[in-house]
Amino acid sequence: MKAAITGLTHYLPDYVLTNEELSQMVDTNDEWITTRVGIKERHILKDPHAGSSALAIPAVKELLEKTGTCPEEVDCFICASSAPDYRWPSTAAIICDACDIRHAMAYDIQAACSGFLFNLNQARAFIESGLYKKIIVCQAEKCSSFVDYTDRSTCPLFGDGGAAALVEPTDDDSIGIQDAVLYTNGEGNDHLILKAGGSVNVPSHQTVDDKWSYIYQDGRYVFKNAVTMMTQTSGEIMKKNNLTLEDIDWVCTHQANKRIIDAVRQYVGVSEEKVICNIEKVGNTSSASIPIALHMAAQEGKLKKGDTLLLAAFGSGFTYGAMILKWADCKI
Ligand SMILES: CC(C)(COP(=O)(O)OP(=O)(O)OC[C@H]1O[C@@H](n2cnc3c(N)ncnc32)[C@H](O)[C@@H]1OP(=O)(O)O)[C@@H](O)C(=O)NCCC(=O)NCCS
Repeated sequence: MKAAITGLTHYLPDYVLTNEELSQMVDTNDEWITTRVGIKERHILKDPHAGSSALAIPAVKELLEKTGTCPEEVDCFICASSAPDYRWPSTAAIICDACDIRHAMAYDIQAACSGFLFNLNQARAFIESGLYKKIIVCQAEKCSSFVDYTDRSTCPLFGDGGAAALVEPTDDDSIGIQDAVLYTNGEGNDHLILKAGGSVNVPSHQTVDDKWSYIYQDGRYVFKNAVTMMTQTSGEIMKKNNLTLEDIDWVCTHQANKRIIDAVRQYVGVSEEKVICNIEKVGNTSSASIPIALHMAAQEGKLKKGDTLLLAAFGSGFTYGAMILKWADCKI
């Protein structure tokens, strides 16, 4: 029994924030952002009262429709978000309510930008054990809510977006999630962190003055670790599964920086045509970045049933790892 992605959708808010517009907000320019990060534009949810759930609800509704799934059939719902609507209730509870899903074990996970792979691996365990049969894994990311638009070193990087996947059992061994190696190494904790809002630094005038409700990152340190950790785990999973470069049809890594994607590709040794990348138009949408990129590639007709995909993720924690996924008959 394998777990396969049988449906995939994504949602991006309408507003497009271009490098030109950013250049009027902070001391930056299109040339710097393009060459150092590879992003030209990102989508932003402008409504200040709408949270991350607003980015996932349209994706989940579309997923139910495209896959012909009734809300009451969904027995498990896992939501990854780096920017949950509230501390509680869970963002999963809010999305399920809006989508009429009322018979699922619904909950959030926190694995930052690695959320999609952590989500999928958990869904895989539930499917392989026989515990659940129709699982929605959902990624809801209003990243703009933790970005300081006066900080030029972070504000060009992030965009908002949501994605949802239906994961179901299959008897066909040639498709579905084949394997995953996922880790968390807390030595990275202080280098990529949102300090306020949790129980250590509860929101206060001081946390606002100190800008602790915004992302803090040590960019170079994060960059180096992202490359090393995604490269190492990609090599590890290929070796573990006796795969050579010829066996891999597509590589899709977390979309944080084009230079990170290029470096991982070069270290792994994969040719550029095999890389799925949408960073130029979407930016870093945290846990939603890999599923949005996959969905766009599928819509472009790139992904065929049986294709072998190498996925690699990295995020705060540091959470990181790689997965081998064989593409299924997936409703898009
Ligand atoms: C953040 C990041 C893009 C910065 O790129 P970098 O090449 O490391 O750049 P540096 O931080 O060394 O800065 C180089 C120079 O560019 C300047 N700079 C930084 N942001 C700039 C911007 N938006 N526009 C123009 N100049 C900028 C810096 O001030 C610095 O100037 P200086 O040399 O005069 O001091 C890069 O480190 C990165 O992508 N890190 C990983 C971030 C990430 O992936 N986070 C999420 C992980 S899930």
